Amino acid sequence: MMISLLRTGAFAAVLVTFAAFPALATEDGAIKHRQAVMKAVGGHMGAMSAILKKQVPFTKDLGVHASAMAELAKIAARIFPEGSDFGETRAKEDIWAKPKEFAKVVQAFITESEKLAKVAKTSDINAFNAQFKAMGKNACGACHKPFREKKK
Ligand code: HEC
Repeated sequence: MMISLLRTGAFAAVLVTFAAFPALATEDGAIKHRQAVMKAVGGHMGAMSAILKKQVPFTKDLGVHASAMAELAKIAARIFPEGSDFGETRAKEDIWAKPKEFAKVVQAFITESEKLAKVAKTSDINAFNAQFKAMGKNACGACHKPFREKKK
């Protein structure tokens, strides 16, 4: 009897704990997660850029960065949950106000990064360079321009 009462008490406490962390906790988490994923995206972009500018001799690594980018693009489709537009974020409201337009640029990111990963397998550095630029324009730029707040 005592034990079951204790259990019920513990269960109630857990419920209360969950209730005590309202939407804000998850929202904050969603924003942090999104920015971390975008930083990873930016990291691979920066690494590929340095390689393409011949600042480092790691041409062979282009495929790794391109594949990682293609995987991250799939994750990018999930990092904009509804309600994650409040707080320390540069995500614009239009992401949720214009879901069709936004879905298009997410898809462009997936398509362009997949192309890049494919081109990497051919070891054609000129073709890679061209696709790298296309991705920057049609994916990164095409989304950041309308959907990301400028830095303050
Ligand atoms: C579908 C839209 C979309 C695409 C595509 C996209 N981004 Fe972003 N990116 C965003 C948004 C929105 C933010 C702001 C996130 C926030 O502050 O919550 C962002 C933030 C960033 C940041 C800053 C992260 C931080 O907080 O420090 C970097 C770096 C970045 N993006 C790089 C890239 C690169 C490089 C590409 C292309 C390879 C890319 N992004 C593609 C929407 C996108």
